[in-house]
Amino acid sequence: MVATKWTQEKVASRLVRYPDLRPCTTAFIDTYTPGSDQKENFTIIGPGVAENPDQYVHIDIPHGFNIGAARQPAGCVNSQHSHETAEVFVVHTGRWRFSLGVNASDAEIELGPGDTISIPIHVFRGFTNVGDSLGFMFAILGEDDPGHVTWAPDVFQQAKEYGLILLEDGRLIDTTKGETVPPDGTPMAATTAEDVDRLRHMTADEIKECVVREAELDKTSIRIFGDQGLVESAIIGAENSDDGMPAGKMSWLHGFHLRRWKFNPGYSTPWHRRDEAEVIMMHQGSLKYVWEGGELEIQAGDVLTAPIELARQYVSGDDEVAIAYVVRGGDSPSRYSQVSNGDGR
Ligand SMILES: [Fe+2]
Repeated sequence: MVATKWTQEKVASRLVRYPDLRPCTTAFIDTYTPGSDQKENFTIIGPGVAENPDQYVHIDIPHGFNIGAARQPAGCVNSQHSHETAEVFVVHTGRWRFSLGVNASDAEIELGPGDTISIPIHVFRGFTNVGDSLGFMFAILGEDDPGHVTWAPDVFQQAKEYGLILLEDGRLIDTTKGETVPPDGTPMAATTAEDVDRLRHMTADEIKECVVREAELDKTSIRIFGDQGLVESAIIGAENSDDGMPAGKMSWLHGFHLRRWKFNPGYSTPWHRRDEAEVIMMHQGSLKYVWEGGELEIQAGDVLTAPIELARQYVSGDDEVAIAYVVRGGDSPSRYSQVSNGDGR
């Protein structure tokens, strides 16, 4: 078998830089609703749940999960909706309020930079940037196809008032642009009271158990390579006897793990490789991703998916602590395999 040659160009196609993110501002049914009209949605890895086929997917390689992001100015609202798979947010910038329930009145909780929330399936959730500047969150959705969202009934009502019709296959018809429902399309029936009754209600105490504050992370941490330079902390995932990591606070099955890295300045990991997808969501500072054949700088806001099995090193800059959130595929990703050098032996 001829090994894949991981050229600079090939690996660079797996890095999505923050300044290169392409938003779709017309992706969802609440696009024209005042208060929600300035939200930006990004599909970084995988198709996400966007309703608009024009949504730009940066990396279409199936990972078993999707990575996306939300960016909203101060005061901007993402309307109440529910998902069929896990939905996790990692706050990169800004202050965000998550509100649960069909009328956003069941419970609410606020998150700041470095905090994580995993909202259970079949729960209405919405979120608002309650800070005073532009906010950005990374998002992880479960499975290769996370399905469609269920919007709260009043979202349909408002969409209708502003000229949008959602079809059953997920397409969004914009009557303000002269679009009409095509012959092969059926408008989605608005969510009914019975549909709403089938969804779960959560209390303020229950949603607290679905949030990990940045300050709590030290409780579930190990020095992953055995030395002082890099502390890895569990957020989502069961205990892993393979690498010695305790369970994350959110230990139920998601189909992926989420951990946080905190690098001391000037630290270089040993050469190693992994059997699962490893996605880096850079939060603070920068890291160099090194493989035999090249290197790439990952900066705050960037997302990199490291090729499975490719031997790698991560190196932090000399002057600052580097923090990244790391998603690994599967419910029980295995321990890294240490190798002696970049050719993987
Ligand atoms: Fe969502």
